[in-house]
Amino acid sequence: MRDTNIGWGKVIVLGEHAVVYGYPALAAALDRGVTIDVVPTRGGSLRLSVEAWDLKLEASDGPRRLEAPDANPMARGLSAIADALGIGRPSLSLIGEAQIPPGAGLGSSAALAVAIAIGLAKHHELMLSDDAIIEAASASERILHGKPSGIDVALAVHGGLGVFRRSTGLRPFSAPELRILVGPSGAPRSTALMVERVSEVTGAAATDERLTELGGLTDVGATALLAKDFAALGVAMNRAHHVLGSLGVSTPQLDMLCQVARDAGAWGAKLTGAGGGGAVIAIAPRQREAAVLAAWKQKGVNGFVATVGG
Ligand code: PMV
Repeated sequence: MRDTNIGWGKVIVLGEHAVVYGYPALAAALDRGVTIDVVPTRGGSLRLSVEAWDLKLEASDGPRRLEAPDANPMARGLSAIADALGIGRPSLSLIGEAQIPPGAGLGSSAALAVAIAIGLAKHHELMLSDDAIIEAASASERILHGKPSGIDVALAVHGGLGVFRRSTGLRPFSAPELRILVGPSGAPRSTALMVERVSEVTGAAATDERLTELGGLTDVGATALLAKDFAALGVAMNRAHHVLGSLGVSTPQLDMLCQVARDAGAWGAKLTGAGGGGAVIAIAPRQREAAVLAAWKQKGVNGFVATVGG
């Protein structure tokens, strides 16, 4: 097991929403995420605080309380992780440090859940496999997001870059270094609501041609990335953003942020994650990156560059 209790943030480069219906998604862990320090306390229950997110809560008492509709979902998620590990409610303070914003489509909740699962497992000297950590963290993700595909948790545990499918999990591949510009829009959104919207629009049919196209774009993009054809990857990203818009998960703000990135010289730009708010990503020739970040800044968005692959 790793030295630091860390769960990595992630970006989905191509394939979000379609991945819920079994199609592949190309995704990469960010070089940042959430870390957890486990501090024993005298008495009290299992507590969690993440100052950067203004988050402070206590695990609910037991499985019964997990069903209480009024319980804070994050508290229920924490309890679900403790229950999956079979550790009861130890007197511990979990102190989180987050280098990614919450609720921005960057996998913050999965990163937190994974960091907690690793921290608690280590503290209790449980020698857990990655799969067991994934299972514990997924118990929390199901409470927060309904029926997640599992892509966030897989990347939060494994890091790196790869193609994820519901049926096979994450298949890492070694890709050339890719610099992704990430622009958190600051607009809140709900993954569960966006997944529900796509289900309504498509009749939850995996054969819907928009979902099929998104899945195909993952293959096109992954091939382009392996060939270092970033321009072709950008074209696939632009098309994916358009298709996601037709599924009702973009917003005028996300469209605008993608357009200003393209106007500033990006090869391609799209929303990433569930949409409805959250973040956009762009890839651009190195000499245009500053212009893209400046264009976002003018629109009130503090973007950053994440290096993945390589
Ligand atoms: O926005 P996020 O980080 O919650 O990503 C959601 C990705 C979806 O494909 C929309 C849902 C899923 O479970 O894969």
